[in-house]
Amino acid sequence: MYKILRAEKLSSNVFLMDVEAPRVAKHCLPGQFVIVKVDEVGERIPLTICDYDSEKGTVTIVFQPIGASTTKMSELKAGDAFEDFVGPLGQPSEFVHEDIEELKKKRIVFVAGGVGTAPVYPQVKWLHEHGITADAIVGAKTKDLLILEDEMKKVCNLYITTDDGSYVRKGMGTDVLRDLVQNQGKQYDVCVAIGPMIMMKFVCLLTKELNIPTVVSMNPIMVDGTGMCGACRLIVDGEVKFACVDGPEFDGHKVDFDLAMKRMQMYKTEEGRALLKLKE
Ligand code: FES
Repeated sequence: MYKILRAEKLSSNVFLMDVEAPRVAKHCLPGQFVIVKVDEVGERIPLTICDYDSEKGTVTIVFQPIGASTTKMSELKAGDAFEDFVGPLGQPSEFVHEDIEELKKKRIVFVAGGVGTAPVYPQVKWLHEHGITADAIVGAKTKDLLILEDEMKKVCNLYITTDDGSYVRKGMGTDVLRDLVQNQGKQYDVCVAIGPMIMMKFVCLLTKELNIPTVVSMNPIMVDGTGMCGACRLIVDGEVKFACVDGPEFDGHKVDFDLAMKRMQMYKTEEGRALLKLKE
């Protein structure tokens, strides 16, 4: 069992938990994820790692209650435990393999949408710990849904935007990126976009136009998380890839977002799931 040491509500619909999982904490790197199970009969839920402390043996997860299992998860308190907490899964972010001196020469911008701020945080924090301060644009629907503002401010140059203009400025993350590049003279060598698929698609359309190589973190439906079930199948540069083992990060300019979003929709119904199984 994996004990919950801290359970907090970050905003009206986003929850944070510190979980005691020493083996996972010891091995995880930015960009990776875990699969958790609330109880013996619960479904497997893939969650990005928001933070980790290898000395304390804790992993921080952030999630939104959207289905039955995540709603059940949101009711857990400190002292409760998860039946399963498997990870770290997936490939770490490309940064961790790069030569630090080369990386220091790069101008990096992150674009995070909603709860996508959670997986962006360990990346900007890791860069900051290695002497690199990236720019990060965080977009939320409203002020209430903004998460990790104070934590992010400590480790990057933060630009906030809200869809409804309830905080800082009104507009999408793409509006801020366009403004920084076209009006404020910023130049970037790489962009990392993490958030809802539709948001990542539009960031990629813009960065193609601005000629900025872009990495996205794909979040399709996952079942086993080990490359066996095919649920997280994507087409990247015309080839089949599995987000759980080949990703979750991919070259955003090569991902077929329309197909990925269509598959997400199909997975919402019994009939659609059966159809996808037949095609695989
Ligand atoms: Fe099953 Fe990726 S989740 S193949």
